[in-house]
Amino acid sequence: MFKATLTVDRHFDLAPLDRRLFGVFVEHLGRCVYNGIHEPSHPTADEHGFRGDVIELTKELGATIVRYPGGNFMSGYNWEDGVGPKAERPRRLDLAWFSTETNQVGTHEFMHWCEQVGIEPMFGVNLGTRGPDEARHYLEYCNHPGGTALSDLRRAHGAEAPLGIKFWCLGNEMDGPWQICQKTPDEYGRIAQETAKLMRMVDPNVELAACGSSAYDMPTYGAWEDRVLEHCFEQVDYLSLHSYFVKPPSDDSTESFFAQIETNAHYIEDTVAIADAVAARKRSAKRLMLSFDEWNVWYRARHGEHLKQAGWPEAPRLLEEVYTFEDALLVGGMLTMMMNHADRLKVACMAQLCNVIAPIMTEPGGPAWRQTIFHPFAQAARWAKGSVLRPVIESPGFANAKHGELPYLCASVVDDAATGQTAVFLLNRSLSDEMDLSITLRGLGTERELVQAEQLHSADLQATNTADAPDRVAPQALDSIAIDGEQLRVKLKPASWNVIVTKAQRA
Ligand code: AHR
Repeated sequence: MFKATLTVDRHFDLAPLDRRLFGVFVEHLGRCVYNGIHEPSHPTADEHGFRGDVIELTKELGATIVRYPGGNFMSGYNWEDGVGPKAERPRRLDLAWFSTETNQVGTHEFMHWCEQVGIEPMFGVNLGTRGPDEARHYLEYCNHPGGTALSDLRRAHGAEAPLGIKFWCLGNEMDGPWQICQKTPDEYGRIAQETAKLMRMVDPNVELAACGSSAYDMPTYGAWEDRVLEHCFEQVDYLSLHSYFVKPPSDDSTESFFAQIETNAHYIEDTVAIADAVAARKRSAKRLMLSFDEWNVWYRARHGEHLKQAGWPEAPRLLEEVYTFEDALLVGGMLTMMMNHADRLKVACMAQLCNVIAPIMTEPGGPAWRQTIFHPFAQAARWAKGSVLRPVIESPGFANAKHGELPYLCASVVDDAATGQTAVFLLNRSLSDEMDLSITLRGLGTERELVQAEQLHSADLQATNTADAPDRVAPQALDSIAIDGEQLRVKLKPASWNVIVTKAQRA
């Protein structure tokens, strides 16, 4: 057992937490859409073919925004293929995933799914094979009230009211050699600038995200952001980040795996620094915000299998990562880190939602279940409401080759002044020792009472949830919490993710 402390003060708030930090991602990839969220023959399917059990699980996950339709798929997508009578929609080769795209799910079907879930859509435009002209047309089709050929076509397709899609991604991972029509930063920066300009002419209410480099360890990272923003800084609202966490066989320690929390904190901070350097060069007071619109653990089902498959299958099983308890701990730690960057990080999407590197798994005609990573996400999405308070942490730790000494404790605190509710999220990264933790919630009210306390723990770091044992890893009650005025005292199991929610009277 070791001692640690966590202190927050009412006056030291970082920023209001943007609830869009709890976003997810649905790509036309593998079984994410077809035989995932959409399976018309499933017993729970609605009249549009969407699985009711997946809709219920997505609601339980608490996701607030969903990115669609890709990903790499976006860079070859014709939005026109996915609207109008289904029988007339073309089947196409999807060059991103070497699959056949049937186009039976498109814009209207996906908007219907969003309505059923109660989630905000985040759409993307194809800046790979296409460009500003199609982007402005797609936006006009979706958001213009009527009286033009494209908006009236939407109405003819059954959507009288504008779809009101606010958040748009300007392409996807355009620096990646794998991307359909990869671009140089100058090529992409100019196209993003002009596309943003036209899209704002069509609908001045849109929010636009430019593509950052597709990963922190890409050779393009840094120079790409700088050059792209040189072109489109004034026209866009967000710059995207993508990160997939890997446990390399050469360094397979769990502690190194967990240190990716700090690596991704640096990724955010370095990207803010580059955006602010561009602002400085332009003598601009604007502060660009970040959209971490793809993040998750992904290293097992990642061997280029999509390139090997033959025959252009429909909805093949691709990227179906089975998550461990260890992965869930890293996801929990990532969530605390992202909350602690709420001043500049406004949107984040766990990639993806269903079957493909996903918190929700399904079997055709069979069950849907929660992977291990479902739980920390659902707990954070449920309880993190209000403002993020800057945490001061004192904790022993472990040595990491890249970052030096790192504390065992990762924590974030989100306080809702309106309700008096404070949520504390805690990861104990020690694999062997219990943590005796003192939490001070300074100036956050009196007569504090416990609302909810849960832990995610398993004796087996490699435990997984499967169709036949879907709740092997699931939250349990966290007891042993003592409340004394502004102080909470709790014991955290080694290798555990914990959520404590309390409520106090505010003056
Ligand atoms: O999420 C899977 C893929 O990872 C996405 O299509 C792409 O954007 C990223 O490389």
